[in-house]
Amino acid sequence: MKLILLGAPGAGKGTQAELLQKALQAPVISTGNLLRAAIAEGSKLGLAAKEYMDGGRLVPDELIISLVQEKLAAPECAHGAIFDGFPRTVAQAEALDGIGGADAALSIEVSDAEIEERMCGRRTCPNCQTTYHITHNPPRREGVCDKCGAALGIRKDDEPGVVKERLRIYHEQTEPLIEYYRAQGKLREVPGQGTVTETTALIFKALSICS
Ligand code: AP5
Repeated sequence: MKLILLGAPGAGKGTQAELLQKALQAPVISTGNLLRAAIAEGSKLGLAAKEYMDGGRLVPDELIISLVQEKLAAPECAHGAIFDGFPRTVAQAEALDGIGGADAALSIEVSDAEIEERMCGRRTCPNCQTTYHITHNPPRREGVCDKCGAALGIRKDDEPGVVKERLRIYHEQTEPLIEYYRAQGKLREVPGQGTVTETTALIFKALSICS
């Protein structure tokens, strides 16, 4: 199955992608994580992406589309993938349609006010990219990643001013994809204001997955 996770920055796409990965036995393609890894490596892609990401703006479509094409061609994606943070523009959605498209697009709906609160409390592992929240989803040991033991940090684009810009860009450039996938009959909408567990249950129901 090829599944797209849509939603504003901080709606919980990464958190739910990790849980869905186990249920669907499909790899996650997170363009945000791939770009952050490219920045950490100091690669050409990372150098090109950094300024856009730090300012909360979208990385140009052509860079993202070739990155996703390369990932999708890998053998582990032969039976499907979960897209976290892709597509984010109509041009990206059209490019995905050109290489087989997706089976479903799941939109996680969260208000802007809740997003801003979540971003303030997010902590991210710079090593394995797992995300936590200081109150809603804390690590077992404060400040330490449960999975790899690295010290948790705060993403540069989680600063309040940058979060506002990311939300503005989401409403302008990514939200139109809700109608794009509705028109294709592939859209599933799920309220994401509840707890992580409540939201997972709603997602599984929307996708007819048994938990
Ligand atoms: P990316 O990394 O994709 O960021 P994003 O979409 O802004 O999403 P986030 O990772 O911020 O949030 P999320 O929805 O995954 O939420 P999370 O699960 O972490 O992209 C970063 C940048 O890269 C972009 O700004 C852009 O520059 C570039 N980029 C990436 N893809 C691109 C593309 N396709 N095209 C162009 N540019 C691209 O949850 C957030 C917090 O809330 C966490 O602390 C979590 O623990 C907590 N939380 C989650 N669920 C709940 C819940 N139900 N209740 C309470 N707390 C919760």
